[in-house]
Amino acid sequence: MRHFLNLFDVASADIEQIFAFTKTLKTELAAGIRRPLLAGRMLAMVFEKPSLRTRVSFTTGMTHLGGASEYLGQEAGWGKRESVADFSGVLSEMVDVIVCRAKDHRRVEELAANASCPVINGLTDLYHPCQALADLYTLQEHVANLNQASMAYIGDANNVAGSLAVACAKMGVRLSIASPEGYTFSDEFREKLRQASPDFQLLETADPQEAVQNADAVYTDVWASMGQEAEQAERAQAFANYQLNAELMRHAPDNAIVLHCLPARRGEEISDEVIDGPQSAVIQQAGNRLHAQKGLLVWLLNAMPA
Ligand code: CP
Ligand code: NVA
Repeated sequence: MRHFLNLFDVASADIEQIFAFTKTLKTELAAGIRRPLLAGRMLAMVFEKPSLRTRVSFTTGMTHLGGASEYLGQEAGWGKRESVADFSGVLSEMVDVIVCRAKDHRRVEELAANASCPVINGLTDLYHPCQALADLYTLQEHVANLNQASMAYIGDANNVAGSLAVACAKMGVRLSIASPEGYTFSDEFREKLRQASPDFQLLETADPQEAVQNADAVYTDVWASMGQEAEQAERAQAFANYQLNAELMRHAPDNAIVLHCLPARRGEEISDEVIDGPQSAVIQQAGNRLHAQKGLLVWLLNAMPA
């Protein structure tokens, strides 16, 4: 049983194939073609946290592909109304694929361990692999060759940064990440990255200006993620010099694009001027969530005709 829980488990060739399917489906959609590759298939979304992009991209993606989807919020009672094992076993008898957004990554792993259908991680405290697919797909639309490209990430070394790093490592993209002390990758994560991709070119610095030099894309995310609201004030202080603003963008190449997974807290991690500016690709990036989700579903369910 193949799941999609984090990108460490996905080969570079598989990511390339997902991107190829994504491109085909995006091009077809632009021409008004919606092939029913998942006709009769059902997707369930088990979400413990709010979502706009992830939820709607999977819902719309399934509709475009001729399938259907069902959103299950907290009231479904996963692990409360009944055990995780019973919940997963029953749900996966009835649907073809599950997307799970959980507070704790171990919950998604537990769901997958008890499921008889593929499980996709729709964001946890540790990873956001669906986001990273759309991020690198967006970068690929901007550069000639991913394996000669450079990404800069400014801010918290969080779930989004973690999956971005694994995706960059797998696809040969150099990554420079600027984070304040205390908000960097853990040693355990660095070691996993090193073991998975020994040649990965990763620069970790405390200096945002150093990170953005030579970047093809400059990326940021919120300073306090969902579930970290109580740390908001403390984090705002720690990240005060890490705003992605026009002054910082002056240190990046003129043709660098600006990325943000969204939702953004404008005026905190990113200025209005930059997120609304000519280099911003955040709407294209969010739109690519739809196309990448469709590529992922078709890949995971082996639904693309040869
Ligand atoms: N970027 C992202 O995952 O957005 P949502 O939280 O709205 O799904
Ligand atoms: N790091 C953010 C990403 C939201 C898509 C969070 O976890 O809240």
